[in-house]
Order: sequence, then structure tokens, then C-alpha cells
Amino acid sequence: MLVLSVSLILMAGIAWFFVDTIRHSHEGPSDDVLANRRTSAIWGLTAFGVVISVASLWSWPHAVSAADDVVTVNATGGQWYWDIDVEEVPAGRTVVFNAHTEDVNHGLGIYGPDGRLHIQVQAMPGYVNQIEYVFDEPGLYQVLCMEFCGIAHHDMIAEFTVVAN
Ligand code: CUA
Repeated sequence: MLVLSVSLILMAGIAWFFVDTIRHSHEGPSDDVLANRRTSAIWGLTAFGVVISVASLWSWPHAVSAADDVVTVNATGGQWYWDIDVEEVPAGRTVVFNAHTEDVNHGLGIYGPDGRLHIQVQAMPGYVNQIEYVFDEPGLYQVLCMEFCGIAHHDMIAEFTVVAN
């Protein structure tokens, strides 16, 4: 919507410039007048472009990602449990999960209140695998294991709550 509006305004500006030039063409303006008009049009459009660029790039996602209000969660898997070091995470903020394992490969899978799988990442011996996510919907989320890891694989269930921010 913003892009469309800006495009229409710019197109109207350029169209006005052409119409104005054609309207005045029979008057046979001097070279000075033409040169002045050209110069002010170029400076006007340049200033307009700078303002639009700054305004539209202000909330560049890189700045958000680099902000220190990222929430870090350490999730450690083992036979057969998940150890999650938080009970609550805020909605609408970037959450970084560090997936560890104490023994074999596990799969960190996070299911929402609606039973939908939101994210998953492998937990591998000797590595910390990271995945980041922004939870939009508050509620009770479940951490399940996505990798068959032995007799009680299905018992690897933990929970945390996403709270409205
Ligand atoms: Cu851990 Cu399956």
C-alpha cells in the first residue's frame, strides 16, 4: 500500500512536470528559465528520494535482530527428557533456542497450542545448534523429540508458556 502510494505520487509529480513543460512550450521560455526549472526538479526529486529512503529503511530488520532484547533458551535433550531453562517466553520477541544433547541425537520440535509444529532443529553430540523464532500466539507450547532415540523416545515431552508481551 505504501509502495503503491509513493509510486502514484512520484508518477503524478513527473506527469505534472511534463504537462507544465508542454503548457509553457508555446511561450518559448528562455534557456535560463528551462535550466532553472530542470535544476529545481532534479534537486526536488533527489531530496524526496533521500527522505523516502531513510523513512522506509528506518526499521530495517538487521537492527531488530542485532538488538539485545533477544531471549535465549537452552534446551538440553537426554534419554529421555528435555531440560528447558525457562518456563515462559514473551510473544512478539525473537527467541533463540540453543539445542544441546547429553548423549545421543535428539530432535527438538516445538508444537503450538493448536498442535501445529512451529520449528525443529537437531540436538547433536558435540554441537550447539541454534534456531530463532518469534512466537505470535500466547499459550502452552510442547517440546517433543523428533528423532527416534530409544525405548522411551515418546516420553521426551517438556512444556513452556508463551505469554503476551
Ligand atoms: Cu530423544 Cu527421541
